[in-house]
Amino acid sequence: MQSNLIRFPIAEVSEHSEQTLSKTSTKYDCAEQQFKQLLATEDLDNKVDAQASIVSEFEDTLQSAISAAYEKGCDDAHLFLQRVLYGINRLKLFWYDDLRHYNNERSLYLSSLRQQIEAAWQNWELAQIDVAALQQVDVKDALIKRAAEDLDPPLSSESRYIREEMSVHGYCDLLAIASFDGLVEGSRLSRILGGAANEVQCTLVRVLLEEYGNGRLSRKHSTFFKAMMAEFGMNTEPEGYFDLVPWEVLACANHNFLVTERKRYFLRYSGGLTYFEVAGPAAYRNYLTAAQRLQLSEAAMGYWELHIREDERHGRWMLDDVALPLAEQYPSDAWELVLGYDQEKLMSDRAAGAVVRSIREAEHSGSLIKEIEQVQN
Ligand SMILES: [Fe+2]
Ligand SMILES: [Fe+2]
Repeated sequence: MQSNLIRFPIAEVSEHSEQTLSKTSTKYDCAEQQFKQLLATEDLDNKVDAQASIVSEFEDTLQSAISAAYEKGCDDAHLFLQRVLYGINRLKLFWYDDLRHYNNERSLYLSSLRQQIEAAWQNWELAQIDVAALQQVDVKDALIKRAAEDLDPPLSSESRYIREEMSVHGYCDLLAIASFDGLVEGSRLSRILGGAANEVQCTLVRVLLEEYGNGRLSRKHSTFFKAMMAEFGMNTEPEGYFDLVPWEVLACANHNFLVTERKRYFLRYSGGLTYFEVAGPAAYRNYLTAAQRLQLSEAAMGYWELHIREDERHGRWMLDDVALPLAEQYPSDAWELVLGYDQEKLMSDRAAGAVVRSIREAEHSGSLIKEIEQVQN
């Protein structure tokens, strides 16, 4: 620990999140509790009928949330739907916890809930992109131009805020939200590696190996993220700050669960990962600049430094050895690579905007600090 660092008490907020939730309870909070109850029901598929009242109340709320989110743009509804979807999707990863948590991993009922949310949500997402225009582009040219632009984009107002204004509390808030992905990063990539061997597959494996520190926990990227959080005495458990995660960030995770789950979307996933790796260094340079301005320790910024180096390489590999060869192999479907790329960018930008909004609100209102004091008194 460095003496100029403050300890960040969000961990305590998280521990008391149930108290906080009960104060601001809404119909979505109640429905989320019902969902958790269903999730924890042993052999759920055979007990859906026996839980008819919970099920029908939950499903009513789900339906009204779908129209509130995708017809009226209600943020609470977006959040509720993405949290439920994530609650189902996360069962595809192993969390080294109680094995009974996975009893309903292949539940048909949960699968039908996922279908309902995904169908409405994905239609809404796709409607924001001019798919017909994408089907006409010169794919290789489009990918090369986009990657060149996203490698070093002009600074947005959000980037400026992070670089020039964000306080140490804001930095910790950023770590708390980003830890949702940072502590399990690379997990999504692990889900699409099996199958026929070729150069594309080997490049993807190479990226995964680097994300996973070539099998050494001390070099795994998530370990560097954990070290940053430990510098501030933060909770380093995965999902430790789940309640702070905006729906826009959850949507990125859920979108990746979908495109890695369905091999039909392999080109979309590959295009999306190309954007993710290409655009990483520019985002991480913002965070590194903030950490340097705040005179934080090396460990408190190590993850960003590592990624600026490694993701420049990963971005090149993804473009040259994955996306462009796939464009050649699948000429009539190749536009899906651009769709995946553009969607990942759209969703990442939206998530980055939401994260900065959340940090600014917390900084301006001091709401986090007030909340902590209330809980402690
Ligand atoms: Fe990484
Ligand atoms: Fe990477």
